[in-house]
Amino acid sequence: MKPQTIVWVTVIMYALYVAALIMFRLYPSDSDKLKMAQNSTPAATERRVDNLWAYYLINEENPLPEDFTVGLEPVQGTFMLDERCAGYAKQMIEDAAAEGIELTVVSAYRSVQKQQENLESYIQRLRDSGYTSKEAKSLAEKEIALPYTSEHNAGLALDILTPDWWLTHDDVTADFEETEQFRWLSENADKYGFIMRYPKEYEDVTGYVYEPWHYRFVGVYYAGKIKGSGLPLEYFYKTNF
Ligand code: DAL
Ligand code: ZN
Repeated sequence: MKPQTIVWVTVIMYALYVAALIMFRLYPSDSDKLKMAQNSTPAATERRVDNLWAYYLINEENPLPEDFTVGLEPVQGTFMLDERCAGYAKQMIEDAAAEGIELTVVSAYRSVQKQQENLESYIQRLRDSGYTSKEAKSLAEKEIALPYTSEHNAGLALDILTPDWWLTHDDVTADFEETEQFRWLSENADKYGFIMRYPKEYEDVTGYVYEPWHYRFVGVYYAGKIKGSGLPLEYFYKTNF
């Protein structure tokens, strides 16, 4: 081969190699994205993963810092979320309404103090209905998180029910799963970055009873992956970052 041909072949092969690298970085397949997300640091995945700021665990082992603050924005009526994800929730509510599904927010951001009050008043309610103080505390803590350990304290969680819920119920209960609102959320919430956070099958892992009404913002990318995995955030988070 002439030296000139060798030079041209080398240049063309190098150009093809660079083009392949660029294409791979610009248009990785979903499974490649997940592999890259699994094998790289958050900083390296930032261009592919939306809202990484929201992808973290909040539970008894991972409480919010005592000096935690959050900028809030209304989502529905006076209910507010972190201003960085409120728009996603509003869009979700609007798109559901366009399909004839009215999502009614009954809780969103809660201050640490409000969390404490909710917990204390629920413990009292259980005691009034005959439970001992110890039983009441233990039961209540499976339904209401301790202050600083609730996703509501972070402004990342929404409790959603039907508009007429309180006409037939005096509490939030698992039969929400029989509503068209729940069916719509199960199908669509991940597209807006929300996951149903406390699944029925993983009460022992999350530490909380099944809450089909509680939706947690983790960003669209991870919401899709978590939903697809069928795992609770505790398990998924351990192996996916
Ligand atoms: N009900 C959930 C666990 C909370 O209080 O955050
Ligand atoms: Zn909730």
